[in-house]
Amino acid sequence: MPASVETKSFRAFQRDVYSFFKSKGRHALPWRKTKNPYRILVSEIMLQQTQVDRVIPKYRLFLKKFKTVQVLAEASLGEVLREWQGLGYNRRAKMLHEAAKVIVTNYGGEVPTLYSELVSLPGIGDYTAKAVRVFAWNEPEVLIETNIRSVFIHHFFSKRHDVSDKKLFPYMEIMLDIKNSREWYWALMDYGSYLKKTIPNPSRKSAHHTKQKSFKGSNREVRGAVLRALVSRSKSLPALLKELNFSEERIEKQITALRKEGLVVIRKNKVQLP
Ligand code: ADE
Repeated sequence: MPASVETKSFRAFQRDVYSFFKSKGRHALPWRKTKNPYRILVSEIMLQQTQVDRVIPKYRLFLKKFKTVQVLAEASLGEVLREWQGLGYNRRAKMLHEAAKVIVTNYGGEVPTLYSELVSLPGIGDYTAKAVRVFAWNEPEVLIETNIRSVFIHHFFSKRHDVSDKKLFPYMEIMLDIKNSREWYWALMDYGSYLKKTIPNPSRKSAHHTKQKSFKGSNREVRGAVLRALVSRSKSLPALLKELNFSEERIEKQITALRKEGLVVIRKNKVQLP
């Protein structure tokens, strides 16, 4: 830990973060009203690449339909993809569905608690495994995502560029509120999200910063349109080509890619959700 940051200053930092949270925190977020690890897992996967406001209604509908990890595991992938529409990055839905199946088969339907077990689940990386441990069980992990990163960069590295997570780590470790890790990270996330809206995004100074690629005109846009067109029913390739406003070549290319990933299947000459 850098000697320049003394106990006194980190206590003050914690106090500031909590005081922001108390007055301006997003206390009503639906996934903050539960400790159910399955619900937390669903929320963290949805929040990975989708904005909070867009996740809220989808999260509610998804859990209404798939109340437990067992119900999700027994659903078809097509049903899961239908509920996922509007969130984008549909591969996440497939991974979540696969993770649910592993949880039912290998862990008796209980989300495992160990980090090593969680990261071995399909689609669950370092961040998500730690986030589930923090928000479901209040475990004191060092959790880094874009908003949290913004807070630490803004407060401790405001004059630096290319700040690596490795540099932030010791700060995060020492500042961690060991007994209240759940609340501490809620507070950091909310404060970071606020900072980004008020000052030029501090996490641009992170060595890990990547700009969101534009959706318009991307292959992701084509993939999304193909899947959306199939939500109501299966369609022949000519019907899809007629319905969608993209070139034949681009549509065919994305159907091939979606087939390879198991997100669509072809049956009786029609493209459909699995
Ligand atoms: N609360 C818990 N996890 C969150 C996340 N990933 N983003 C925003 N708020 C959250």
